[in-house]
Amino acid sequence: MPSLTVRQLDDKIKQRLRLRAARNGRSVEDEVRTILRSAAAGDEAFAAAAAPDERVHRKSERKSEPTTRRVLLIIGGGIAAYKSLDLIRRLRERRVAVRAIMTPAAQRFITPLSVGAIAGEPPFTELFDLQSEFDVGHIRLARDTELVLVAPATADLIAKMAGGHADDLASAVLLATDRQILLAPAMNPRMWANKATLRNMAQLAADGVASVGPNTGEMAEQGEFGAGRMAEPLEIVAAAEALLPGAEVARSGALVGRHVLVTSGPTHEPIDPVRYIANRSSGKQGHAIAAAAAAAGAAVTLVSGPVQVPDPPGVRLVRVETARDMLAAVEAALPADVAVFAAAVADWRTATNSREKIKKTARGTPELPLVENPDILATVAHRKAGRPALVIGFAAETERLVEHAKQKLALKGCDWILANDVSPESGVMGGDINMIHLITRDRVEDWPPQTKDEVANVLVQRIATALEPRR
Ligand code: CTP
Repeated sequence: MPSLTVRQLDDKIKQRLRLRAARNGRSVEDEVRTILRSAAAGDEAFAAAAAPDERVHRKSERKSEPTTRRVLLIIGGGIAAYKSLDLIRRLRERRVAVRAIMTPAAQRFITPLSVGAIAGEPPFTELFDLQSEFDVGHIRLARDTELVLVAPATADLIAKMAGGHADDLASAVLLATDRQILLAPAMNPRMWANKATLRNMAQLAADGVASVGPNTGEMAEQGEFGAGRMAEPLEIVAAAEALLPGAEVARSGALVGRHVLVTSGPTHEPIDPVRYIANRSSGKQGHAIAAAAAAAGAAVTLVSGPVQVPDPPGVRLVRVETARDMLAAVEAALPADVAVFAAAVADWRTATNSREKIKKTARGTPELPLVENPDILATVAHRKAGRPALVIGFAAETERLVEHAKQKLALKGCDWILANDVSPESGVMGGDINMIHLITRDRVEDWPPQTKDEVANVLVQRIATALEPRR
């Protein structure tokens, strides 16, 4: 590598370098080395990686939010290592800078080249590598991060951590770090159930190490089933975000003094005493929004149709059945600063609700004429008096998502629409992951796939920013 010291550079370049280094979460010296390396490599992917946030920003509209959060990802040697590539991608989508360490065993499953291409800088692999030690050194590596994430965390790495070993780069960094550690264990179910592993995990939990997973399911080995599958990348991202400082906005008290009204779940429209019209909404998204708003300090009224999900803590919950009950409960809960309409309200109900169970007769199938239910979102958004400052709707679509959602925004008079694809293949309805397009009067933002909890946190963050600061 050509030798060049920062002192030799002119002031203008130094200033640009400082800015670029700050944006990428590196020291100025590291930034120079990264640029020189990328120039030497002549590799476009690597050159783009020298400014990871620029590349991400070009894709999205979030120019004003630079990469500030940093994760040191330690990739252990297990079949689940292949998921680490997706994990890195998901983290970077969220503007989290990722620096990776690969154990020798990890390199048997995935290559440093692929990790480097996705992470934006080559992974560190050797404890006694002269170049890496010269570059950052394992102690700096252990400190220049906000979170140390171990995924997959193998039984061996877990045992080393619990015992305080430091005979390779990964274990040395884990011993040297004073940052929060998050483990995503992955191993064969018998190894996971082994008393030694359980003892080690208990020790690490007592030491303040956090963990996510493992999940229960089919293992890579044929015929093996049980607890030991590494958590999915998005689950790990959600757990990491909850531990990263920047993600604490949802717990920041940003909505203290605000009243947030949320509708959630389906409605049930009775046909007779035993039958009703319903839909597949689980209430997960609406309940997550209510929980996130409450965690941010808001007084929350959650008006929910019949759901199986647990009641979110710290909210006033009003249980309803029908669309008309929901409208009445919403109107009774006003005024509110913000109203989020996440419920999948049944559009129609039967014109009559039979008092008795409708019987089969020789005259054939019954006629069930339908009438339209009130549109709760439109009713609230079009209120002349007492309209919440921010009215947010959802658009559940199975085709032409953004186009339909834009029409809904105009028709219903709300301020924002969160459009999501609810076609069966998307797995959104009833599932844990959501892919949102946020549509406002003047722009469309494509959010990456996220858990419904994450969507709730991001939304709460956006609401807090959009509301005028309280005087
Ligand atoms: N909504 C409502 N009251 C209704 C119907 C819908 O408050 N009677 C709200 C939903 O909570 C959501 C938004 O309106 O925030 C859009 O709901 P969606 O089901 O996507 O659309 P619909 O208005 O029902 O239109 P369509 O079924 O034709 O897509």
